[in-house]
Amino acid sequence: MHYTELGFVNTKVMFEVAVKDKFAVPAFNFNNMEQIQAIVMACVDVQSPVILQVSKGARAYANPILLSWMGRGAVEMMKGYAKEKGLGEIPMVLHLDHGDTFETCKECIDSGFSSVMIDGSHHAYDKNVEVSKKVVEYAHQYDVTVEGELGVLAGVEDEVSSDEHVYTQPEEVKDFVSKTGVDSLAIAIGTSHGAFKFKPGQKPQIRMDILEEIEKEIPGFPIVLHGSSSVPQDAVAMINKYGGKLDDSIGIPEEQLFAAAHSAVCKINIDSDSRLVMTALIRKTLAENPGEFDPRKYLGPARDAMIQLYSEKCIKVLNSAGKAPQIMEAIKNAK
Ligand code: G3H
Ligand code: 13P
Ligand code: ZN
Repeated sequence: MHYTELGFVNTKVMFEVAVKDKFAVPAFNFNNMEQIQAIVMACVDVQSPVILQVSKGARAYANPILLSWMGRGAVEMMKGYAKEKGLGEIPMVLHLDHGDTFETCKECIDSGFSSVMIDGSHHAYDKNVEVSKKVVEYAHQYDVTVEGELGVLAGVEDEVSSDEHVYTQPEEVKDFVSKTGVDSLAIAIGTSHGAFKFKPGQKPQIRMDILEEIEKEIPGFPIVLHGSSSVPQDAVAMINKYGGKLDDSIGIPEEQLFAAAHSAVCKINIDSDSRLVMTALIRKTLAENPGEFDPRKYLGPARDAMIQLYSEKCIKVLNSAGKAPQIMEAIKNAK
């Protein structure tokens, strides 16, 4: 099934508008119904474009077939919800996060994804170029956009873990982009996956100087930041108050992401923050209502808290709130 039949768009026009207008499109991961509902409601409420992304782990957890139908359901829900609220429809992308092989990317393209990431960042440079190029050649036949990656983020990435950042080397990006034909590039400038990005005593700092060097090499080219959760301390405190144990959870300061969103960074990936908020509310609700056993009663408050989280990200961090109408218009004009 082609993604246009499901109502998705690819990232092309979205990123062109984002680079020009200095905002970043949120890429929120989902694994279950409450997350996808919260993402759709929040993004319609604030009129933000959105990238729904699923990892290899999400596909294994939720079932790949169900996931693509959930994506389709999300588009239909978005239309109904927007109408009910008297708001406009928003552009939505269905994206594979950290695709590790050509076969996984192909499977997703064939089942209705409008964008895929081929993460060859753990390979040697030439092998990364080779696999990324192969995915691009297949994807572009179907007008599916492709994100590549250069540099390695510290922490766990796709079940491979690295203690150190291997920052993206600005002198490599031009060659990589031209040899592979990727539509956007994920870079490593000090962000990392998960809820433990920095150690106590470390100053959280993303390397804006490297980003600037990269921008000079490939002016206006869409850049992606992974590992961009800020690890809200109120959610961490709530988890710990109600029986959890999360020591030293530190994320990327929102001001730094705000600055990045105003540069060529046009996609910012956030997953852990949603997991933290969801867990916090589930723990709190169950601790305060020990007799509760209806999942709707604890997943409902978790969903409400996620709606708030996603809306605030769009409004205060990514500057993507209110940008949906102009992207819809630009997509229409590009046809
Ligand atoms: O990049 C990592 C994402 O947060 C996805 O995580 O592989 O546990 O689904 P996951
Ligand atoms: P976080 O773990 O910081 O949310 O990053 C998510 C991510 O990069 C998904 O690809
Ligand atoms: Zn990632």
